[in-house]
Amino acid sequence: MNLTPKEIVEYLDKYVISQKNAKKTIALALRTRYRRMQLDETMRAEIMPKNILMIGSTGVGKTEISRRLAKMMKVPFIKVEASKYTEVGFVGRDVESMIRDLVVNSISIVKTEQEELNLSKIDNYVLNKIVEKLLPPLPNAASESKKDDYQRLLEAMEKRVESGEMDERIIELEFDKIHVEFNDTNLPPEMAKVQESFSKVFAQINKEDNKKEVRVKDAKILLRQEASVKLLDINSINAEALRRAENGGIIFLDEIDKIALSEKSQGRNDPSKEGVQRDLLPIVEGSSVSTKYGTINTDHILFIAAGAFHVSKPSDLIPELQGRFPLRVELESLTEETLYQILTQTQNSLLKQYTALLGVEGVTLRFEDEAIRAIAKLSHRANELTEDIGARRLHTVLEKVLEEISYDADEHNGEEVVITAKLVHEKLDEIVEDNDLSRYIL
Ligand SMILES: Nc1ncnc2c1ncn2[C@@H]1O[C@H](COP(=O)(O)OP(=O)(O)OP(=O)(O)O)[C@@H](O)[C@H]1O
Ligand SMILES: [Mg+2]
Repeated sequence: MNLTPKEIVEYLDKYVISQKNAKKTIALALRTRYRRMQLDETMRAEIMPKNILMIGSTGVGKTEISRRLAKMMKVPFIKVEASKYTEVGFVGRDVESMIRDLVVNSISIVKTEQEELNLSKIDNYVLNKIVEKLLPPLPNAASESKKDDYQRLLEAMEKRVESGEMDERIIELEFDKIHVEFNDTNLPPEMAKVQESFSKVFAQINKEDNKKEVRVKDAKILLRQEASVKLLDINSINAEALRRAENGGIIFLDEIDKIALSEKSQGRNDPSKEGVQRDLLPIVEGSSVSTKYGTINTDHILFIAAGAFHVSKPSDLIPELQGRFPLRVELESLTEETLYQILTQTQNSLLKQYTALLGVEGVTLRFEDEAIRAIAKLSHRANELTEDIGARRLHTVLEKVLEEISYDADEHNGEEVVITAKLVHEKLDEIVEDNDLSRYIL
């Protein structure tokens, strides 16, 4: 997608308040990849992505920025926690599995695209299969006029299936093979192959009972999968997916601070942390990783690492790894004003979410501006007094404010409920100022 950095930032502004620097840096990194793809191949091979390290305390929007971006750009994207990996040889996931996860994600993007492009083909396939089951076939020797009649019947039946009229009817479907999908991407390709043969054996064993009675409604869903296997060219999807993951993939490495060795806790450190960092080096720098779908080169995958770095500092990472994240951005802590804006200006704001949820019960929820100010203020205060958990505090605070209303919603059907500053203070003042209480409740 060829959005300019400004357009990317504008888009992000709808969801993430402040954090200008982080948004700009990431927008620029994405644009650079677009620019790179326009160059000729020799030049292209020379230009390496500049990986980004986002530093900021918890709940200030690190993950949110990346998540929104990936959604908008429709590029292969995965978010992984650095802390869940272990050094090769230890029990746990090895770091290469993140590349395999990225490829799987890429495949699902390309596949969805192809399904959308072939929507009418797939629809037809499904419809034909179902109608076939509902209408007995016409004998070959049928006369011309019979054929015409049959054609009319067929069309009428197609309409009825499409309209959902036949949804509850039971039909019998045969499935080509029972698909035993093992989708554990943690496995190296050799093991994956073994698994595949297993699936095939299973399919053989299950051959006898591969007929199933299902409702038409469910057949519509089940047959779509079959249709996309039959109609789409899986090999070219896989190849395209590999290419995209290789050139446009983004891996968001969250909690990178958790694998740093801080000086303070030296001695108590898990020795495998450094191992994980060492294992990460070749992947971040560029190496080949083999997957079930082919080999992928990680040179041009963009890595965005993020961490709060409360206990440890970026300089506690091993120097080689530090050097592979040349772009550093710091995210600001959230002020009372930013919290207010998060509540009022974001596209998906919590206030809108609660209003919509209660709308289902016939309750019209309205927040007075003063009340929103009070919520922001008290959230900020709670962050100061206990831990600073950023915008996540808004969730707990709002939950507390709306708890009762939400519970009694059925009694307020058809009413407008106004949230006033007075109500907010009543619900929260005591809790916020009482340190012990707020630690538990907020
Ligand atoms: N600047 C912001 N603007 C809008 N919403 C925000 C902002 N910061 C955080 N949020 C909201 O707060 C929640 C947590 O944010 P996010 O997941 O980005 O935290 P984080 O910085 O990744 O924290 P952690 O270090 O704990 O992973 C999300 O629901 C997000 O929408
Ligand atoms: Mg996060």
